[in-house]
Amino acid sequence: MTTWNLQGTVSHLLICNGSSCRKHKGEEVAAAIEQEIGKQGAEARIHTTVTRCNGRCSDACVVIAYPEGVWYQGITPKLAKKLVRKHLKGKQLKENVVYTFNKKLKAVDQRGGKGKKKT
Ligand code: FES
Repeated sequence: MTTWNLQGTVSHLLICNGSSCRKHKGEEVAAAIEQEIGKQGAEARIHTTVTRCNGRCSDACVVIAYPEGVWYQGITPKLAKKLVRKHLKGKQLKENVVYTFNKKLKAVDQRGGKGKKKT
């Protein structure tokens, strides 16, 4: 058990570790993100949490970044490292963005699985 002091965190990455994302190298994606954070000396700026399924399995491997509210699809270990470097510069990995947040989540064109409508 750990209790981190999160003061100074600029980005929180939620890395999906549900079964579909694990089939798409989710564990390797998580390892690549941690490795790149360490390489960049960004442990105090980027916090990570491995999650269970985020409900977007057809987008595996899914990574979500807050406070930006950006949902990424198709993240590979190589892209994961790039994603960390982008977020450290206040940018996004635009080609893999499925949803952005501005008061509510908004789909970015037709990327990612369409998904079932919630009632
Ligand atoms: S297992 Fe990752 S979104 Fe479902």
